[in-house]
Amino acid sequence: MKSLVALVLLAQLLSCKAGLVPDIPPEVLPHKHLACDDPETEAAAAVAVNYINNRLKHGYKLVLNRIEKVVEHERRPHGKILELELDLLETVCHIVSPMPAENCTVRERTQHAVEADCDVKLLKDNGPYKVLLSKCHSSPDSHEDLVKFCPNCSPLSLLNDSNVVNTVNAALAKYNAINTTQGHYELLEIARGQHSHLANSWYVEFAIINTNCSAQHAKEHKEDCHVETGENQHFGFCKATFTKSLVEGTEDHQDVDCIVYDHQAGVAHVHLIEEHLKGNLGQAGRGYTFHNIIHSHNSTSHSHSHSDEVVPVEKVSALVKRAVFVALPDCPGRYRHYDI
Ligand SMILES: *[C@@H]1O[C@H](CO)[C@@H](O)[C@H](O)[C@H]1NC(C)=O
Ligand SMILES: *[C@@H]1O[C@H](CO)[C@@H](O)[C@H](O)[C@H]1NC(C)=O
Ligand SMILES: *[C@@H]1O[C@H](CO)[C@@H](O)[C@H](O)[C@H]1NC(C)=O
Ligand SMILES: *[C@@H]1O[C@H](CO)[C@@H](O)[C@H](O)[C@H]1NC(C)=O
Ligand SMILES: *[C@@H]1O[C@H](CO)[C@@H](O)[C@H](O)[C@H]1NC(C)=O
Repeated sequence: MKSLVALVLLAQLLSCKAGLVPDIPPEVLPHKHLACDDPETEAAAAVAVNYINNRLKHGYKLVLNRIEKVVEHERRPHGKILELELDLLETVCHIVSPMPAENCTVRERTQHAVEADCDVKLLKDNGPYKVLLSKCHSSPDSHEDLVKFCPNCSPLSLLNDSNVVNTVNAALAKYNAINTTQGHYELLEIARGQHSHLANSWYVEFAIINTNCSAQHAKEHKEDCHVETGENQHFGFCKATFTKSLVEGTEDHQDVDCIVYDHQAGVAHVHLIEEHLKGNLGQAGRGYTFHNIIHSHNSTSHSHSHSDEVVPVEKVSALVKRAVFVALPDCPGRYRHYDI
């Protein structure tokens, strides 16, 4: 390495002495293009998706569907910055589930898919890719598209729809009433609600958390019950349906199925619990934008250029001429799940 630097310096010295413009090494091209499905782009995308999943504040874990765009910038004096545009898809694993996102099933299109468009900036400098910034916007597939390819599918309802909220509350009350051995659970987040016009039913999915109350205590003194913290904390996830009877004299039908996860050390979901304590239910959901920016004094996202790092204008134009010979980018990449 040292000898290489010495050689470069020597070469520059010689060329200066000879009155020549030093040759610009090809690696300072400002916008070199990697193909979207290059293994290197995929490796960076995997780092980005993992980063995004670890910082999700609501809803479900995401997986990569397609790499839309990749732009590579060389960074002086060394390293490089990659800008990615990614399409992610919602899986069936809620963020409180301990299942790694890679193992989660992607939500089927017939269940009304939700997509997230993400812009991510990563740095690579003597090590693996590191995310500097990510910004995502999630939105469900359009209602029209869903109905077009699946006329009988149930579209997503708003999470604050009163039928959805009532179905969730009734389902959790039923779960708490039946399941008396494991203490009293509270609602953490409503994650999905769908209405089937055909069946006259509502389908909901929601996350729960345990409290420090037994079922009996909760019945008498609900005000004493606090969300558990520390080693006793357990998250859970429920699916429930409520079918309204269309026939006079027959009962409405209610079904609830919950799974309670083992305590996960170091996983607190502080944000969800804060929202829960504020009573902000139903505000979480789709059509929202989430940002994650690493703020750090030695962040390199806006590298401070020293004068010796600046490429003079005439040299940049020389680079642009040279860039004409760079192969056209092979983007967007392939769909890993489905075209939405
Ligand atoms: C996730 O998938 C990997 C590879 O298929 C497997 O080895 C691992 O056991 C799975 N983990 C869970 C929690 O299912
Ligand atoms: C439900 O949510 C929608 C979208 O977030 C909002 O426009 C509407 O005001 C909310 N309705 C209620 C009753 O809170
Ligand atoms: C639950 O915790 C709160 C706060 O620590 C406490 O005030 C309350 O008495 C506890 N409830 C029970 C049933 O132990
Ligand atoms: C109570 O909860 C546990 C764990 O979630 C579950 O296995 C069990 O079937 C539940 N019991 C009833 C009666 O619902
Ligand atoms: C700078 O980066 C190093 C290594 O990533 C880290 O340990 C250190 O805390 C950072 N310093 C500041 C001021 O952020």
